[in-house]
Amino acid sequence: MRRPLVAGNWKMNGSIASVDSLLSGLSQLKMAKTVDLAVCPSFVFLQQATAALTGSGIKVGAQDCSPVSDGAYTGDISASMLVDQGCALVLIGHSERREYHQEGDALLAEKLATVVTLGLAPVLCVGETREQREAGDAEQVVGEQLRGALMNQSSLEGLVIAYEPVWAIGTGLTATPEQAQAMHAYIRNELASIEGVSANETRLLYGGSVKAANAVELFAQPDIDGALVGGAALDAVEFGKIIDAAA
Ligand code: G3P
Repeated sequence: MRRPLVAGNWKMNGSIASVDSLLSGLSQLKMAKTVDLAVCPSFVFLQQATAALTGSGIKVGAQDCSPVSDGAYTGDISASMLVDQGCALVLIGHSERREYHQEGDALLAEKLATVVTLGLAPVLCVGETREQREAGDAEQVVGEQLRGALMNQSSLEGLVIAYEPVWAIGTGLTATPEQAQAMHAYIRNELASIEGVSANETRLLYGGSVKAANAVELFAQPDIDGALVGGAALDAVEFGKIIDAAA
């Protein structure tokens, strides 16, 4: 049985003060022990988050990392630095990085390998655009993203997949539970043909305008094992309601 996972992707949001307030709110949540929890702040708030959440049961993750180890890479953040900061997971290939930083499959495969090598759990983000869905190419696009990052990996320990239809991110236009379940079932089937992946054990998160109001229906789907939450994760009370829905 897959334990649900609810993770918050804070994206490029926050200040020391607002993060303090959000972390305080998260620390006060009475959370079910049956749900794994994580938050992914910007790099600059990682230490603040790991310090505040110690003992809370909420893991801290990063939103990205360099594909290479430490060295002469100005401005980059290495996976070893994330381990040093107390991170447990890393988002890989979020659609906003694929779009704004032209991150392609080869780079994402390198990042994923580096993350796994250092014992961090990779959360591989996949998802189609509105145009790709309307053209009937959604499954083909997602399948290519999965294979592009996961094929020929020496280890995929801790792998989590986040299906985030781009047209649902930040739009308030959530995929219907049926749409999300259909893609999750397709993803799980595709994972079964990728060496090193335990398709049945891999947690598949849905992301894209998840709110307390739609979380119960989404989590009721057999292949939806949790959520990667953006906007709603910036509100401790709303995030807590989403967590309750996963319990
Ligand atoms: O990574 C999660 C994010 O892309 C979803 O954003 O605001 O639609 O929940 P949001």
